[in-house]
Amino acid sequence: IDRTRYASTLLSWFDVSGRHDLPWQHPRTPYRVWLSEIMLQQTQVRVVIPYFERFVAALPDLRALAAAPEDEVMALWSGLGYYARARNLHAAAKRCVDQHDGELPRDLDALMALPGIGRSTAGAILSQAWGDPQPILDGNVKRVLSRVFGIEGWPGTPANEKTLWAIAQSLLPTTRLADYTQAQMDFGATLCTRHDPACVLCPLQRDCIALRDGRTAELPTPKPG
Ligand code: ADE
Ligand code: SF4
Repeated sequence: IDRTRYASTLLSWFDVSGRHDLPWQHPRTPYRVWLSEIMLQQTQVRVVIPYFERFVAALPDLRALAAAPEDEVMALWSGLGYYARARNLHAAAKRCVDQHDGELPRDLDALMALPGIGRSTAGAILSQAWGDPQPILDGNVKRVLSRVFGIEGWPGTPANEKTLWAIAQSLLPTTRLADYTQAQMDFGATLCTRHDPACVLCPLQRDCIALRDGRTAELPTPKPG
């Protein structure tokens, strides 16, 4: 499947079946996108939503977060788990005030230099906050691409990561980058799920190598050991 058809297929699916009412989409500011992506790294959307709402009500922008006492940040995070995320978020906000004029930097390397932001989170922030053409590669995207393109072997190997990043980059559309990122997340989370993907409803069914070969249960290859 080529780039134009892949992206337009996902975007058309997203328009009908994607999630359009998530609180970080309205308004979709860099701060709100960043906060949501950190909360969503290890926590499901429905759990994140009330925490996100409380957090932005108390600390509505990056400068407010940077100026907040550590115990307020931790109290707002309390119950979400993986508390290093909150400490990193707070440290990153302070660093943005010191080094980036109180803004999140619109730059892949500068974002990845901040605590708690890896390459996929940086791509999710750049694409959703500014519409920049940056790919993401989280667990959902790895699963979908492994199936559609029939990638053998655990997606976490360095060789497969390299292949998957290159595919993700090559598939980027030229418009609607924010929606495209959200579309991929929603597609993997609700249609091309780990167990029992809904292939009968899938707009990529004629293009999917795993489905063609009857191997949707075997791909992606599980982590060895
Ligand atoms: N997981 C990480 N980012 C997400 C997003 N924007 N929507 C849904 N799940 C996600
Ligand atoms: Fe996923 Fe099935 Fe669609 Fe392939 S056909 S992308 S396995 S839902």
